[in-house]
Amino acid sequence: MPTSVAKHNPAEEDLIFRLLRQLDAAPGASQRATAAALDISLGRLNALLRGAAEAGLITINARSGPDKRQRFAYTITTRGAAEKTRLRDQFLARKFAEYDALHAELTGTSSGLSPLKHRTHPMQNNLAPIPELYVSYESAQKLKVEAADLTSHDLTPRQICDLELLMNGGFNPLKGFLSVEDYNGVVDNMRLADGTLWPMPITLDVSESFADSIELGQDIALRDQEGVILATMTVTDRWTPNKSHEAEKVFGADDLAHPAVNYLHHTAGKVYLGGPITGIQQPVHYDFRGRRDTPNELRAYFRKLGWRRVVAFQTRNPLHRAHQELTFRAAKEAQANLLIHPVVGMTKPGDVDHFTRVRCYEAVLDKYPQSTTTMSLLNLAMRMAGPREAVWHGIIRRNHGCTHMIVGRDHAGPGKNSAGEDFYGPYDAQDLFREHEAEIGIEMVDFKHMVYVQERAQYEPNDEIEDKDNVTILNISGTELRRRLREGLEIPEWFSFPEVVKELRRTSPPRSKQGFTVFFTGFSGSGKSTIANALMVKLMEMGGRPVTLLDGDIVRKNLSSELGFSKEHRDLNIRRIGYVASEITKNGGIAICAPIAPYTATRRAVREEIEQYGAFVEVHVATSIEECERRDRKGLYKLAREGKIKEFTGISDPYEEPANPELRVETENVDVDNCAHQVILKLESMGLIAAH
Ligand code: PPS
Repeated sequence: MPTSVAKHNPAEEDLIFRLLRQLDAAPGASQRATAAALDISLGRLNALLRGAAEAGLITINARSGPDKRQRFAYTITTRGAAEKTRLRDQFLARKFAEYDALHAELTGTSSGLSPLKHRTHPMQNNLAPIPELYVSYESAQKLKVEAADLTSHDLTPRQICDLELLMNGGFNPLKGFLSVEDYNGVVDNMRLADGTLWPMPITLDVSESFADSIELGQDIALRDQEGVILATMTVTDRWTPNKSHEAEKVFGADDLAHPAVNYLHHTAGKVYLGGPITGIQQPVHYDFRGRRDTPNELRAYFRKLGWRRVVAFQTRNPLHRAHQELTFRAAKEAQANLLIHPVVGMTKPGDVDHFTRVRCYEAVLDKYPQSTTTMSLLNLAMRMAGPREAVWHGIIRRNHGCTHMIVGRDHAGPGKNSAGEDFYGPYDAQDLFREHEAEIGIEMVDFKHMVYVQERAQYEPNDEIEDKDNVTILNISGTELRRRLREGLEIPEWFSFPEVVKELRRTSPPRSKQGFTVFFTGFSGSGKSTIANALMVKLMEMGGRPVTLLDGDIVRKNLSSELGFSKEHRDLNIRRIGYVASEITKNGGIAICAPIAPYTATRRAVREEIEQYGAFVEVHVATSIEECERRDRKGLYKLAREGKIKEFTGISDPYEEPANPELRVETENVDVDNCAHQVILKLESMGLIAAH
């Protein structure tokens, strides 16, 4: 009997399953067509049919009609239908087990996928495993050895985030960094070359010199910053992008106030490489390991818990009571479970660091009804691209097994542009998402703006409050919260959870207790060092925080003795100063820097690095070049005029004046003490030193 044979032979079982399915789907088909559909000979089909009839899975009846080749009709019996379901479940169970084993091999953990004995519905798309780009463990070991001979590219932090999501299926259907054809499609129409919706260019940007060293068709090794190989890539494309065009199309404006546009012009390499990726291993994370899940791990988790509908909440901010209320309502509205899915890769410069945020999320998680909600960390590098970003987030959440996503007001908004206006309209993201909802494959739940109604002591959606004139509506904006934290002011219970506030206060002490950097910039001889020295002494007299002076000359002696004055060397020098100052700031000290720092972009990069940890106070010592040359304390201007010193700032090399420094000091006819005092007053007004 076929069933008994089949019991020991999976291939035979699969064939019987396919036969039953075929007879079910096309009972009137000719034997020839059925054999062709199953890809077997007529003789084999006849033997199978006989066996199935003997086992009582089908009945064979004579069929009347003119066509002699179709003498019999086949009908599946009730027993046959049950057998079909059993065989399908068995097939899936076997595949699950294979997947589980592969998963365990690659990650060392179980996927949580157990054979389902009595499955009656086909698996939902959002729960079935999705393709990853990893090779098997054995191949990975081999590739690691072989890759020793390959040219290596050291990935930037952003590229590591992108690569992780490429490899684990988070960026499905991408198979690697975009080719030029896909890139053009994505930039111009949000579509890959084959027409698939994809809103964000995922590109491997490299330096010109690295690009020149590569030949098309060559494999390269992609390594993390410690040199660990993560993947190989076959370079199929190499091109120099038009970055201004990319900025206009993808971010809506070629405006450096947009963090991703600034990144594009000032951090990203000049040339892009494209090509398919072969995944070797995932980037290593030492923090919150148990809270990080690949798309397939999340899908397996949802399967295990029977979560068929899951609404994702994307966030890069700490959660307060209003967020809890809105996510809770969104889940109820969508009749779904809730996934808090915070981004821990790269967010907007100046955001609360992810360590603090995750501790806050963990505290909030306890406040949700048990077993309806989970949290998982997403190692995404955000671009703050508003509408396009929302669509991208949707695709990423779909890949992670979610069926719904909350899209808020000004989703992934980058803040103000250089004219002081918002980059995107508040509902542009929702509109674009809605337009593409079917293709994204996930339903949008619009964000409700929740406000606190004091009289009823509860949160309510702002647009649903009918008695607005008779109640007191309370709300604290993000800016106001930051102010209160900065100044150590009260944060009311109705606004946030005590555990969250405690955590935020711990990592964001009031400004007068945080580290900061004062960054003087100006011509040689402008008075930077003198004012910086006076400032240092005044701050030391006040006490409280250690003060370090990184003066131009001192740094060049101790940190940058090998550097000259080309643009490249000056930038490197300033970045070194920025790095040291950021470490000092992070650790609660005061760094005073006094280099020339002639380039705006480099000063901005340093500002961004430092502002992660504390304030950056740029002071332009605005002494004119004529006055500096007249003073010529070191006799350098004379030598520069005589051509004995090349590339001398203000004489034969550029100086880009800061457009919006925190303070500009004039030194002509003003004594040093007064200049230093102006800085002290500025620091006081910014809350960096307590007034006395
Ligand atoms: S930079 O551009 O910020 O890296 O310059 P910095 O490290 O501040 O170094 C400037 C000091 O080096 C002396 N010096 C020159 N300055 C400008 N251009 C050229 N070509 C040059 N060669 C030497 C000069 O004394 C600067 O000192 P300060 O303290 O600014 O007067």
